[in-house]
Amino acid sequence: RKTENQMLVIFGASGDLTARKLVPALYSLYAEDQLPEHFVVLGTSRSDMTDADFRNQVVLESDYLKEKLKNSDEAKTKKFAEMFFYQDLGESYGVDYASLRERVGQLNDEKRTQGNIMYYLSTPPRLYETIAKNLAEAGLSTQNNGWKRLIVEKPFGYSLETAKALNQGLQEHFKESQIYRIDHYLGKETVQNLLVTRFANSIFEPLWNRNYIKHVEITNAESVGVEKRGGYYDKSGALRDMFQNHLLQIVSLIVMEPPIGDEPEEIRDEKVKALKSLRIMRDEKTLHDNTIRAQYIASDIQGKIVKGYREEEDVDAESTTETFAAIKFFVDNWSWKDVPFYVRTAKRMPTKVTEVVIHFKSPHHQIFKESGIQNKDNKLIIRIQPDEGILIKFGVKVPGQGFKVERANLDFYYSSLMEAHVMEAYERLLLDAMQGDATLYARADEVEAAWEFVDPILDYWQNGKDVRMYGYPSGTWGPRNSDELIEGEGYWRNPGEN
Ligand code: BG6
Repeated sequence: RKTENQMLVIFGASGDLTARKLVPALYSLYAEDQLPEHFVVLGTSRSDMTDADFRNQVVLESDYLKEKLKNSDEAKTKKFAEMFFYQDLGESYGVDYASLRERVGQLNDEKRTQGNIMYYLSTPPRLYETIAKNLAEAGLSTQNNGWKRLIVEKPFGYSLETAKALNQGLQEHFKESQIYRIDHYLGKETVQNLLVTRFANSIFEPLWNRNYIKHVEITNAESVGVEKRGGYYDKSGALRDMFQNHLLQIVSLIVMEPPIGDEPEEIRDEKVKALKSLRIMRDEKTLHDNTIRAQYIASDIQGKIVKGYREEEDVDAESTTETFAAIKFFVDNWSWKDVPFYVRTAKRMPTKVTEVVIHFKSPHHQIFKESGIQNKDNKLIIRIQPDEGILIKFGVKVPGQGFKVERANLDFYYSSLMEAHVMEAYERLLLDAMQGDATLYARADEVEAAWEFVDPILDYWQNGKDVRMYGYPSGTWGPRNSDELIEGEGYWRNPGEN
């Protein structure tokens, strides 16, 4: 695909995301010569800043760009910084669209961006609809003279109802084909590689179903706590922050049927079908038996005392927001019926890691009596991050008399392929949207299907009878009770284990 000349207009440009993710991603695209010949960035927000202030803040004095700029010379950095402009939008994001329109028009003429505009919404989510409406009313969404696209940051909705309302609100002013809902996990190489592993090989897909797979396990762990985001996180929690979006996206890529081809809608259609086949838990007993939530508590991690969740800044001292969630669920379709999925996500675990483990069934007839292999079934482990790669565990004969079987590893590290530049998630996603490729963006029905599954769990956690909130010491793999969830299968595989 071609990257046409265009303007990127960022709403909420003085915020953290612009400096931390967007500008470094743009810099990488610039350094690799991936930006179109005519390209400008217009930052907008409620702060009173000049173009020069903005350039200083997000480029020249930015801590997030320091490393990358080390390989740049002064002229190159200057040229990059000169792509950035700034427009103050006033207090409410609602008043000053006439001046925005004028500025956009003037930059478009001067910089020859051909009327193509990418709007990037990185403001508090309550402003998304207002901005879309104001853009439309100011005539800034029409596609008569160049395309207009809208990238929307997470969180996308707070519940099924609010996500639906947001979809509707945006679709009143922009067509679905213009809307790009970002989920940065889809920008990760190894997440995309789930598709390739499954559909570019003939050795996995025949086994990829209930006949051969016993259960699927996904762990998403972070060692950090909520850091400076207590205010946001306390209203969100692990289920909204990670599970509804990133983890269900991974689930959909594991569960989906083979798409017809690799066109965006062909892939997204299958993902939606996958999400719609998740068995929704409705009654209290099912919800009680299959969901676990917990909060990290203060702990001494190698001599460093870390605070408990309820002591964090901007967190309610009696908060019932979960920082750990573990969910067991099933997928009601032909391939996956009755195969349990176990997914857990948490802050303040021992390490940062995301990993998918496909556990295969034992051979249906055990020939080697002394093998000891019964409890060591085949596993396919997909390491999403770090140490990106794929590991297959299989049995081999121990040299010597008899047929003793031991576990061996076939281990592939993505880093062995990394002579090529590996794009960071935001870099890949931005470039895709700039080229009009929505494959790695979530469609309206996809987001709603994910909320449909998550809503009853949230509702139960908030309103159910006797819902327990467990504690786990920071730096551990979560509450002991989460082991009970997976007991029938053995135990959680803590990444790094054999
Ligand atoms: C974000 C969440 O979407 O993903 C954060 O809001 C979380 O709470 C982050 O830390 C994790 O992303 P990654 O790419 O570091 O795994």
